[in-house]
Amino acid sequence: LTLGRRSGDLAGRRVIVTAGGTQEPIDPVRYVGNHSSGKMGYAIATEARDRGADVVLVTGPVSLPAPYGVDLIRVETASQMRDAVMATVHDADALVMSAAVADFRPAHPSPQKIKKHAGEHLAITPPGQQGQATPDADTSGGGFSIHLVRNPDILAELASLQAAQPRSNAGEQPRPRRLVRVGFAAETENVISNARDKLVRKRLDLLVANDVMRSDSGFGADTNKVYFFHADGSMEDLPVMPKAGVAAAIWDRVISLLA
Ligand code: CTP
Ligand code: CA
Repeated sequence: LTLGRRSGDLAGRRVIVTAGGTQEPIDPVRYVGNHSSGKMGYAIATEARDRGADVVLVTGPVSLPAPYGVDLIRVETASQMRDAVMATVHDADALVMSAAVADFRPAHPSPQKIKKHAGEHLAITPPGQQGQATPDADTSGGGFSIHLVRNPDILAELASLQAAQPRSNAGEQPRPRRLVRVGFAAETENVISNARDKLVRKRLDLLVANDVMRSDSGFGADTNKVYFFHADGSMEDLPVMPKAGVAAAIWDRVISLLA
């Protein structure tokens, strides 16, 4: 989809935004998910489009309309989101990971709907097989447990990829485009220390932290109260703003990093 020549301070830039939460299947009708509405990520993608960027929006299942003029890639799982990001990141200038990526997924999703009655259930997923949804012997009344395994960490993987790239000197091959990486942190406690830790661990250029326990912030809200943590260790405490305002502030910071 082309919109003709773009103007704006992101004109000529290619950006990737991830949004929404991933859904990790338990069986064909159930998943492990989270409360991400996608509003923050969609606001970030829309703002980048309005400022002239070529935008790829990698989105988990959300109930928001597709923004006009962005390249939409719909995914469900963290692995699919990882693949979509890796397939598009090579010529991108910035990646903003606002998606709530599930850290774990069921190791072996059941191919059939898991039944409440153990007999039917057992016919589908024999007990004792590691990773299957298995009846929990300790729970009278028929509980069951699901074995979860770790999902790939998209931002961490990109951080190691970038670190592995040789830094070229003047006169050598043109340097691969530097990717500005922005992460989000939805925290319920110790917002500042958790955020600083993530910034360093994932070697981010910018980490946007919000306290999801506030009613004016985080999941589903139309406003957000965020802190920006910069790679140089500095922090900005932003006022409560509409998510579009937070999106504009994020791109302002990314643009100075791109300059
Ligand atoms: N993220 C990612 N891949 C994952 C998990 C998270 O790229 N598998 C990204 C998120 O999109 C976000 C950032 O990493 O931009 C921080 O996510 P968060 O869940 O806060 O951090 P984790 O490292 O998963 O730590 P924890 O959930 O234990 O707090
Ligand atoms: Ca996580």
